[in-house]
Amino acid sequence: MKTFSRIVLCLAATLAGVSAAPVVSADAFVQGGPIGSQTSDGYNALGPVVTQPIEFPHNRHAGTRANGGMEIDCLYCHTYARRSAVSGIPRLSKCIGCHNMIESVKEKPRIKTLLAYWDRREAIPWKKVHDLPDFVRFNHERHIQRFIFDQGRPSREACGYCHGDVASMTTARRVKAISMGWCVSCHEKEHRIDAVSFKTGHGPNDCWQCHH
Ligand code: HEC
Ligand code: HEC
Ligand code: HEC
Ligand code: HEC
Ligand code: HEC
Repeated sequence: MKTFSRIVLCLAATLAGVSAAPVVSADAFVQGGPIGSQTSDGYNALGPVVTQPIEFPHNRHAGTRANGGMEIDCLYCHTYARRSAVSGIPRLSKCIGCHNMIESVKEKPRIKTLLAYWDRREAIPWKKVHDLPDFVRFNHERHIQRFIFDQGRPSREACGYCHGDVASMTTARRVKAISMGWCVSCHEKEHRIDAVSFKTGHGPNDCWQCHH
């Protein structure tokens, strides 16, 4: 019985592993698979579903006009991605710069909550969605430089490779595995150096590059 259930478990694990495997497309930048669906216990396959202090609608700010969004560039809010390791979450003053003047949603509950934080001069305690262990070193700057500024891809697409299509979400959710194998397999591929020449280069796969 013991052996039997072990085999069943083992088989189940294998099957789960197979069905959970992401669909790898030939072009690394075709926007990634379906957004992970939430299970009743509050988890999807990729980690806990975070509840934020304000349900910030990425879709209405960064989404396409056709879908009722404003197409605000990711880098307008996540300003640091182009020049540092972290992308950062915009400061409250950036939200207020617009929301002080936007009458159409001023009376909405989420905006009232937003303005209350401002009145109290209190930063919104956003929770982290992506959080790699401290022994991993990840740096946005080089990836953004290569994929957005050198190759000339739209930020929605470049950010989307690692974060999924955030522009169609409300609050961000982790939809990519972000495991070591996933980083390494992208580093093994050849990536164009820029948008004009056909020169390519890959990412580093020495342990020390990604680990302290
Ligand atoms: C090559 C993959 C990759 C790309 C491209 C990428 N990110 Fe990230 N991003 C990550 C990883 C990995 C983390 C988690 C870092 C950690 O926990 O140390 C992260 C974390 C974040 C965070 C949380 C705060 C922080 O900086 O740690 C934000 C916000 C973010 N990314 C926004 C963006 C935006 C906006 C873009 C496009 C301009 C982008 N990312 C492009 C992989 C990527
Ligand atoms: C560039 C201007 C701009 C910035 C910056 C901005 N917003 Fe908005 N936001 C808007 C506009 C315009 C709407 C209304 C859009 C609509 O009617 O669909 C909106 C809608 C919203 C809503 C939905 C309100 C509702 O319930 O209908 C929330 C919540 C929100 N914003 C939060 C924020 C937060 C938090 C920040 C800062 C991180 C922020 N916004 C930054 C322009 C902005
Ligand atoms: C109007 C400002 C604004 C714009 C534009 C915006 N974001 Fe965000 N982003 C936020 C805020 C506020 C949060 C914190 C709430 C949350 O996690 O959703 C956030 C969180 C995130 C996170 C999760 C950070 C973490 O803790 O791991 C990612 C990833 C992210 N944004 C990516 C993007 C991408 C990609 C785009 C462009 C398609 C984009 N954002 C456009 C304001 C913005
Ligand atoms: C979309 C493909 C892709 C993914 C996914 C990716 N990388 Fe990279 N990475 C690259 C490329 C290409 C370079 C080389 C950039 C350059 O040097 O111009 C690079 C460079 C780096 C560097 C060296 C430059 C620096 O910033 O110090 C580190 C470290 C790194 N990546 C870590 C990671 C980690 C950790 C992950 C997973 C969380 C990851 N990368 C995911 C493509 C990727
Ligand atoms: C391209 C980036 C990258 C390279 C190169 C890399 N790692 Fe990692 N490694 C990661 C990431 C990201 C994680 C965290 C994965 C997670 O949180 O699930 C990780 C996790 C680990 C762990 C913890 C494993 C676990 O199961 O928790 C060990 C040990 C490790 N790496 C060793 C190495 C060694 C040894 C090398 C060189 C042969 C190496 N790594 C090269 C990105 C990298």
